[in-house]
Amino acid sequence: MNKTIIAPSLLAADFKNLEKEFERINPSAAQWLHFDVMDGINVPNLSFGFPILEACRKLTDKFIDVHLMIEEPHRYFEEFKKYGADGLTIHFEKNTNIEGDLKKIAALGMKVGLVLNPDTAVEVIEPFLPHLDLVLIMSVYPGFGGQKFIEDTFERVKKARRLIDLADRNIILQVDGGVSTANSRALLESGANALVCGSALFKASDFHAYITELQKKY
Ligand code: DX5
Ligand code: ZN
Repeated sequence: MNKTIIAPSLLAADFKNLEKEFERINPSAAQWLHFDVMDGINVPNLSFGFPILEACRKLTDKFIDVHLMIEEPHRYFEEFKKYGADGLTIHFEKNTNIEGDLKKIAALGMKVGLVLNPDTAVEVIEPFLPHLDLVLIMSVYPGFGGQKFIEDTFERVKKARRLIDLADRNIILQVDGGVSTANSRALLESGANALVCGSALFKASDFHAYITELQKKY
């Protein structure tokens, strides 16, 4: 299998010094940047939107992996593309036109992702697999960085891996929330091949070494 994709989560960056943060992100082995968009309705928090995305696009060539936690995400797909998103991941929950939304994202030339909250049955991804480039399993309830990793996630990742392999599709399996070197190896062993990491990574004394550690397998 290819090298694990590490996606530092921008939510944990130091926003008073964004340009400086990219001085550690850009030369690192992290292939992606994870960009959480929250609207205060889908999740009990607000984060950032287009102006910050546009700034990030100017500051990095990394793949910008946008995680949408917003109402009616389809209303904004074109703008996300315009301001620099490379991939859009939408939530399964509360969305009534998932297939249509996934097709719209693909038609705009972005990678297509579907994300499940910790209490959503993993099997729901099955009918959507033909349209997906990425499945994201949340390992915390979305809304905030720095939360405790939910141990149940390992089993959920194994289940998702089985379904993806059965569908015989090359879909990236990503995990987001509370990821650290304390659980990364077990997550990779369970079948994940992409990890989002926020607070643990940005707090690490050696950013680069921490990414290398996250990529290590048993
Ligand atoms: C949570 C976000 C995560 C968050 C991860 O709602 O989707 O991407 O930034 O941060 P950590 O790694 O600190 O849990
Ligand atoms: Zn996220």
